[in-house]
Amino acid sequence: MCTGPAGKSRPAACRQNWLVFPANNAYIFITGPFGSGCKFHNDEDIVMIRERIIRYKGEKITVLFSVDRCTHYSACLEGAPEVFDSLKRPWVVPDAAPPDTVADVIMTCPTGALHFERRDGGPGEPAPAENTIVVETHGPLYFKGTMEVRDQDEKPLLKDTRVAFCRCGMSKIKPFCDDTHARVGFEDAEAPETHPSADSTGPLVQGKIVVTLIKNGPIKVSGPVTIKNEDGELLFKGTKALLCRCGASKRMPFCDGHHSKIRFESEIDCARIV
Ligand code: SF4
Ligand code: FES
Repeated sequence: MCTGPAGKSRPAACRQNWLVFPANNAYIFITGPFGSGCKFHNDEDIVMIRERIIRYKGEKITVLFSVDRCTHYSACLEGAPEVFDSLKRPWVVPDAAPPDTVADVIMTCPTGALHFERRDGGPGEPAPAENTIVVETHGPLYFKGTMEVRDQDEKPLLKDTRVAFCRCGMSKIKPFCDDTHARVGFEDAEAPETHPSADSTGPLVQGKIVVTLIKNGPIKVSGPVTIKNEDGELLFKGTKALLCRCGASKRMPFCDGHHSKIRFESEIDCARIV
């Protein structure tokens, strides 16, 4: 699902807009949008999260692009083609549109591959009004909200407002989605299940959600959150959920314990990515 500039689903032709990057791009590692956010986290030679981020510096706004987290949904290309053009180098020209426009388009990037830093004193990205997770059919979990991602020992890994988490279990950059689900033809066995907690219709007290990556297991979400399918139908509303990220649950999007049966491995081996 592409939550592009018009909030519409990804057009069928979207995959024609794959971004292409030259092999000689100089990737650099930096801290993320919250200052201490996006980063490597190594634990006994296991990489929990990694990101390669390129900065495109303009006069009024700097665009931060996470190479790994871009799944080529083209909301940026369609939202501000004068700024984002995958056929040109550099593919991002931050000053080609007013900074407010650039910021607005960046905030439609559903994966969090794009962020910005204002250099003109303009406002940063506001905290979303609510925390939502959209379950894309045969695809990832799109988180939007005020979230802190932690490992199962509660070590903070990332703070962000937009993340696409792998749900098929086959991404090479877990926990992020890298579009592998589309390449391998991942399919949900059945339509996403509605959790009984979805019956609670009252307002949730808002606050941040803590997203805990259980080693070789599910994603634990703690905090006020609403989970919907890609058609906007409510699946869950509450403050605690265990979401499958191994691809094998028969109760999607919720974990049913199948990760143990298939011996799911959630971490990335350093040797495979360096
Ligand atoms: S940067 Fe974001 S909006 Fe642009 S193509 Fe990649 S995922 Fe889509
Ligand atoms: S993570 Fe898939 S069943 Fe638990």
